[in-house]
Amino acid sequence: MKTTTKIKNTKSVVSITVNNRRKNVIEEYKQYKIAQGILLNKVYLQDCIEGMRLLPSSIIKLITADPPYNMKLKGQYWDKMSPEEFLEFNRAWLLEAYRVLEEDGAIICFGLHHNIFIVAQVMREIGFVIKTQYVWEKDYGRNSIYVPNHRAEFMILATKNKKSKLTYNVDYAKSINNGKNISNIIRTKRTPAIEKRHGAFPCQKPIELMEKLIKLHSNEGDIILSPFSGSGTDCVASILANRNFIAYETDRDNLLLTNRRLQDVRCDNDYAQKFLTINQNQVCSTI
Ligand SMILES: C[S@@+](CC[C@H](N)C(=O)[O-])C[C@H]1O[C@@H](n2cnc3c(N)ncnc32)[C@H](O)[C@@H]1O
Repeated sequence: MKTTTKIKNTKSVVSITVNNRRKNVIEEYKQYKIAQGILLNKVYLQDCIEGMRLLPSSIIKLITADPPYNMKLKGQYWDKMSPEEFLEFNRAWLLEAYRVLEEDGAIICFGLHHNIFIVAQVMREIGFVIKTQYVWEKDYGRNSIYVPNHRAEFMILATKNKKSKLTYNVDYAKSINNGKNISNIIRTKRTPAIEKRHGAFPCQKPIELMEKLIKLHSNEGDIILSPFSGSGTDCVASILANRNFIAYETDRDNLLLTNRRLQDVRCDNDYAQKFLTINQNQVCSTI
C-alpha cells in the first residue's frame, strides 16, 4: 500500500511539474511572440509610425521616445522638417503611441525648446495626461555667447489618461538616492567612451540615464517601446533592467551599431546571456 501511495504521489508530483513546465512554455511563447509576425526584443528597420500600426492596441507599458527635435543640424537628414510637417509628424507618431500604450502605461519623451512645447501640446490634444517633466542635467552641450550654454534636456512624463495608475517604483528611487525620494532632475556625465566602442552616434544617450528611467516607470518583464532607437541605448538598458523591448529605426547603419551593442550585452551580463539565448535568432534585427 505504502509503495502505491508513494508512486501515486510521485506521479502527481511529476504531473504537476509537467503541467507547470507546459504553462511556463506557453507563457514564454506569449511573452516572446505577441502577435503574428511581431517579435519582442527586436529592432525593426522601419518607420516607427508604420511599425506601430502593426502592433495590437494596449500592449506597451512604457514608451521611451527620443524623437527628431527638428534642429536641422548638418548630417542629420531625418531632423529637417517644415513647421507644418513637424506638427503633422508629431501628431502621427503620438497617435499610434497612444493606441499601443496599456491603460496604465506611460510615455517619456525627450526634447529641447525646439520640439518639447509642440510635443506637449499634441500630447494633450490626443488625451495624454502630463504628470511631470524630468530635467536631464549634463556636463556638456552646445556653447553660446548669445544665450546661456545648453546643459539640460527635458523629458515629458505622461500617462494615457486621468485614470491611469502611473508605475513609480519609489523604493528603487530611494535606492539610488541615499534612502530619499529623487527629485525630477537626473544628472549624468557625458555618454562614456566605453559605450561608444562599437561606433560613435551623435545623440547617443547614456545607458545610466535610460536604465534609471526604465526602472522607475516599469517592472521586470514589461514591454518597453523605443520608436526612435538610434544607437539602441533603450534596447540595451531594457535588457539590463530585465524588460522586453520593441524598437524602430530607419537608418541601417544605426541598426547595425545597435546589433553590435546588443551582442556585447550578451557577453557582459549573466541575465542577458540567458535571455538572449532563448531569443538568439530574434534579438538582433538582421533585416
Ligand atoms: C535622437 S536619435 C535617438 C538616439 C537614441 N536615444 C540613442 O541613445 O542612440 C533619433 C533616431 O530616430 C531615427 N528616426 C528618425 N525618424 C524616424 C522614424 N520616423 N521612425 C524610426 N526612426 C526614426 C533617426 O535615424 C535617429 O537615429
